[in-house]
Amino acid sequence: MNSVIRAVVRTGVDRGLEVYGVRHGYSGLIQGDLHLLGTRDVGGIMQRGGTVLGSARCPEFETEAGRLQAMRELNRKEIEALIVIGGNGSQTGALALLRQGFPAVGVASTIDNDLFGSEITLGVDTALNIALEAIDRLKTTASSHQRAFLVEVMGRKCGSLALMAGVAGGAEVILIPEVEVSPEAVARELRHSYERGKPHAIAVVAEGASFNASALQAYFAEREAQTGFQLRTTILGHVQRGGIPSAYDRLLGARFGAAAVEAVQTGKLGVLVGINHNQITTTPLEDVVGVPKPLDPELLELARVL
Ligand code: F6P
Repeated sequence: MNSVIRAVVRTGVDRGLEVYGVRHGYSGLIQGDLHLLGTRDVGGIMQRGGTVLGSARCPEFETEAGRLQAMRELNRKEIEALIVIGGNGSQTGALALLRQGFPAVGVASTIDNDLFGSEITLGVDTALNIALEAIDRLKTTASSHQRAFLVEVMGRKCGSLALMAGVAGGAEVILIPEVEVSPEAVARELRHSYERGKPHAIAVVAEGASFNASALQAYFAEREAQTGFQLRTTILGHVQRGGIPSAYDRLLGARFGAAAVEAVQTGKLGVLVGINHNQITTTPLEDVVGVPKPLDPELLELARVL
């Protein structure tokens, strides 16, 4: 996100615009927490995770009164357009503003990769690399101790991050919300790995799967005698959101930020800036918000075969 902020400020200034940063997302917008940013204000931030502007969940912005208050603050500062960096919740807010008459441009940013209009969203690559490092490390203990490991990754209700982590991490089983898998099938699959001579067995589970890590842990703890192996669980949780941004994400953020300014300047408002077939694209927010993004069928097939 910092890479986007830096690119927005520097591209904006380069084009003669004044750029303000909003602190703590919609919550700061409602409070009028806006600050003029110059090119030096965004120096040295690209290698930092998270966002220097801060972020917040803001239920107040889901109300009409909250949004009107935010618009008053924007108008008071004579802001002409708002660039919203975020996932589904943030882009729902951007669309709501748009419908109330305030020009907004979204930037596809979420580790969940569940935003329609962008094949990959900002942050996914970094979160994925963190998950992979954890899986690789867990394999060491799994192999030495002949234990099965369960790694839970984030992703809200979407299995994309888990699917990618599972395929790239060589997991024996991948559990995602989109595909129902019973604990019995997980046990069978893990046992099968041992029978094939594997020294380890790793299951990657999405937090949104119907049997998430806690549910599976409880299931396996009760049946250790039957299954014949111990299962250890690691829930990565917010660890995944705190990493140093990957090279891919830094470049993507820079491209997204510049494209968002371009969209604002050329009057292409009410769109989501994303990436498709390696080209930066804009998709109307109307066609993005609330539209489910299907999982990549090729990746699903790879998960089955590999
Ligand atoms: O949407 C990003 C995400 O990290 C999800 O993967 C996760 O379920 C959620 O946010 C966690 O939200 P919070 O930080 O508010 O607990």
